[in-house]
Order: sequence, then C-alpha cells, then structure tokens
Amino acid sequence: MTRRTTKASRRTVLARLGAAAAASFLPAHFAIGQQAKIKLGLMLPYTGTYAALGKNIDEALRLAIAEAGGRLGGREIEYVVLDDESEPAKGAENANKLVTRDKVDFLIGTVHSGVAMAMVKVATDNDTMLVIPNAGVGAATGAACAPNIFRTSFSNWQPGFAMGKVAAARGQKRALAVSWDYAAGHESIDGFKEGFASGGGKVENELLLPFPQVEFQAILTQIAAIKPEVVYTFFAGGGAVKFVKDYAAAGLKGTVPLVGAGFLTDGTLQAQGEAAQGLETTLHYADGLDLPKDKSFRAAFKKAAGRDADVYAVQGYDTGQLLAAGLAAVKGDTGARQPLIAAMEKVEIDSPRGKFTLSKAHNPVQDFYLRRVEGPENKFVSVAVKALADPARGCKMA
Ligand code: BEZ
Repeated sequence: MTRRTTKASRRTVLARLGAAAAASFLPAHFAIGQQAKIKLGLMLPYTGTYAALGKNIDEALRLAIAEAGGRLGGREIEYVVLDDESEPAKGAENANKLVTRDKVDFLIGTVHSGVAMAMVKVATDNDTMLVIPNAGVGAATGAACAPNIFRTSFSNWQPGFAMGKVAAARGQKRALAVSWDYAAGHESIDGFKEGFASGGGKVENELLLPFPQVEFQAILTQIAAIKPEVVYTFFAGGGAVKFVKDYAAAGLKGTVPLVGAGFLTDGTLQAQGEAAQGLETTLHYADGLDLPKDKSFRAAFKKAAGRDADVYAVQGYDTGQLLAAGLAAVKGDTGARQPLIAAMEKVEIDSPRGKFTLSKAHNPVQDFYLRRVEGPENKFVSVAVKALADPARGCKMA
C-alpha cells in the first residue's frame, strides 16, 4: 500500500488536532477564528478605606478604553477584577493569581503603596507588564524600576516636595508631620522635608499611626500642646475625611495651619463639609484648570459614573490612554515587547491634569498645583512646582 502524503491545509490540521489542543500551540493573540482578547488584570481596592479611590480608577480606565472604541490596538478587552482590600499581606498571592492563573497581559494596580510593592515583585519575577494608576511608592520607579513597570500617577515624594516648597516660600520654619505609618506616609513626609529644608524649615515632630487606623485623638492633643507653625499631613480616602473633621472638631482649624498632599481633600469634600473649607494642599490635579481635555473628561466621567471626577479618576483614565497609545503602536501585538515599551515611554499623555511625559524611570514629569478648598472644589491657586520629576533614586534606567 502506498501512503499518500499531502500538504494539509491549516484548517485540516486544526480539525485533526482538535481546536483546544491546537489553540495551545498558537500565540495568545492568534486564537482560532479571531484574535484573542487582551486581558487586563485590575487589582484595586473595592472595599475598605481606599474603596472609592479604586472604583474611580476602574471606571475611568474603562471610560478611556470605551472612548478608544472599546478595543486596544484593534483587540477586544477582557477585564479580570480582583479586590486587593489594601492588604499588603495578600498582595503577592493576589498578583500571582492574576499573572499565573488568569494569565493577564497587563497587571494594573494599585492604590496602596505596600500592595503595589508586592505587585512590582510579581511583575519583575514573571516579566509581566505592570501599570500603577495610583500608589506612589518610590521604589517602583526608583530602586526597583524596570522596563516593564510604568506609573501614571505620581511618586509619594512629589506632592510632599511641592508642599514643602510652598511652606518654605511662606517663611515657615517649624513643622509637625502626621500620617499613617507605612511607605506612603513616610515618603510623603520625606518629600515635604526636602522642599521645606530649601527655605531652612525643619520637621521637628512626626506623629504616625498604623494604617488604616483613624483614632486621632491622642495625635490632636499632641498637636495642640506642641503648637507648630504648620502641620503637614498625608491621609487619603476615608481616613482623610475623618482626620479633617476631627482636626476642626478639636478646635485646631484656624489656630494651627493644616496643609497636606492633595489626597487630604480630593474626592472627600462632600463628606468633609465645612471642616475642609480653606484647606491648602498640593497635587497634580485641581479644579478650575481650564483645559478642554479636563472639561470633556469631567463631563464624560459624570455621565458614565454618575458622580464627579477626582484625581483617582484622572489617573485611571490616563492609564487607559497609556495602554491605548502603546498597543496602537504595535497593532495589539502584546508579544512585541520592545516596541510596546518604546511606544509607552515616548508618549505625551493629553491628561485632564495637563499634558505630561514619563521620566526615564517611567514616572510622570508633571506640574504640581497649589489648591485651596472653596465650596465643593479644590480650586487652582498657582503652579507650586513646574514639570517636577521624581529623583528616581536607585533606578538604573534613569
Ligand atoms: C499610597 O499608598 O501610595 C497612596 C494611597 C492613597 C493615596 C495616595 C497614595
């Protein structure tokens, strides 16, 4: 018997192998009949003190992708969502689930610096693309920087440094700093110290309490006893709401000036009410920037989410914009890693906060605004520091 050998068509081979078996030989983006969806693993807090922050990042990211036609680089999107609870102890396990079990193309998260560092480690170990839409931990774009790690938000040092410069320019010399006892608090205070020192100012006392505790009475009693010229603070989310209310209730508002990184009053004003009026903070976003991009974004976010945008929504939106730019450049081929990274590195994001670029360490180089709470807004006052870059200490790419 002669055996006839023919060159089987691709379709015949696939039929013989069985679709499932064949799919395992093919690159993810060439699934049978159509390109596979790009998987975005959203690891964010959906519960706890940072829940509102995570939800705004999530919804604004989806808004940016919807505005890009619901596709990135021509490919449809699948979202895999995981609540990280702002719990550093579960960070590595959660990130590993998304990377090894769900096989996401991009890991996106998170809000809390401690959880973000666990994500940085998992992304580094697995060479997975990571985009950080909030957490400011310095090491992510400092000592642990890497080609596959990007941030669309800020480093904790940046708003602190800007506020230190403002306080120094006012001639203040004696400050007290108060925050949660974790990376974001420490690094925010360090940034403030550096800016403040430029005018000869010194942080004489640091009062820290464990995250996410909100029992502020002992701290407020100490502030009243010490009477510094100015109090610098980093709190965000539910903790920021409580701190601002307790500060006013303790009779300190109006007697000991309170300033902070802008998270103190962003996305929190409705809940803080009268207690927040007049507070001054520094951040890479403000109300009243008078930018067409900001106006269109705010209108679109309000329509999509049914609430007002804040800095977290802006950062989520810009994460979507960064992904859209990178994936458009490689036509959705997530395997084209070098060109993808190169495209993401050179993008200028037209952000609601104002246009920004990324530093060599992949952290935004952006303006920091001084804002003052007036009514329901963090009103733009002035540019505190223009085009501020994080020092990226320890980053070998910078
Ligand atoms: C952080 O943990 O890095 C962080 C959390 C909330 C707001 C800003 C920074």
